[in-house]
Amino acid sequence: MSAIFITGAGTGLGQALALEYAKEYETVVLAGRTESKLQQTAHLLQKQEKKTYVYPLDIKDWHAVHQAADRLCGKFSVEAIINNAGYGAFGSLETLKEEDIHQMIDTNVKGTIFVTQAFLPYFKKQQKGTILNIVSTAGLRGKVNESVYVASKFAVRGFTESLIEELEGTNIHVKAAYMGGMDTPFWDGNNHIKDKSRLRSPKVVAEQIKRLDDGRNKIIIES
Ligand SMILES: NC(=O)c1ccc[n+]([C@@H]2O[C@H](COP(=O)([O-])OP(=O)(O)OC[C@H]3O[C@@H](n4cnc5c(N)ncnc54)[C@H](OP(=O)(O)O)[C@@H]3O)[C@@H](O)[C@H]2O)c1
Repeated sequence: MSAIFITGAGTGLGQALALEYAKEYETVVLAGRTESKLQQTAHLLQKQEKKTYVYPLDIKDWHAVHQAADRLCGKFSVEAIINNAGYGAFGSLETLKEEDIHQMIDTNVKGTIFVTQAFLPYFKKQQKGTILNIVSTAGLRGKVNESVYVASKFAVRGFTESLIEELEGTNIHVKAAYMGGMDTPFWDGNNHIKDKSRLRSPKVVAEQIKRLDDGRNKIIIES
């Protein structure tokens, strides 16, 4: 049974990507920390008669991530992963809380690395796999009051570009998407974006990603 594994699939872009990419896989595995959010996405997919599998997971936990890959790859033929889960905290550098700095680096950077590292041996064994990393335009250039978030996204870009080189000539395809602001729960709890009405819907962005996911390894969607 072919399956796609998506992190942060309970809300925002992750949910929209789950609905968009479901067309190509028999099963969509939905990962994130909050099971109730994942169940909401599962419900939407089930209405489209898609098979779903909800897997509560904190991608910051190396052991839990590796256990997830072992379990899921024993159950499904996981052919693709989307590293979408992310966290942002904004403000001038000196105002950022220690906990927020850890959350950004641990979730955006280490989480993406852990998930990729855990699934890669299975992709190599089956000689097939796709890795899509959700970055941001914050992975393309620096931004005011986004220093650590931008640093985390530059790291994911560097990780992605290196893996593209490392896996060249194999049937494992690595790519990243770089998009501007979207209207998602990402912005709840901070006032970095003053006018959210200008942000695009995650559904529209997910459709654009899927449309541009044509073999290129850099999908750029500027707002
Ligand atoms: N919104 C924007 O303007 C924007 C623009 C460019 C790029 N992005 C990127 O797009 C991606 C999706 O963000 P979004 O806008 O859709 O925001 P979102 O709705 O807040 O989604 C983030 C998801 O990640 C999950 N998550 C966070 N920490 C996690 C962890 N440690 N383990 C597993 N799951 C975790 C959250 O669920 P739980 O809390 O339940 O775990 C949530 O479902 C992120 O990588 C973000 O950096 C966003």
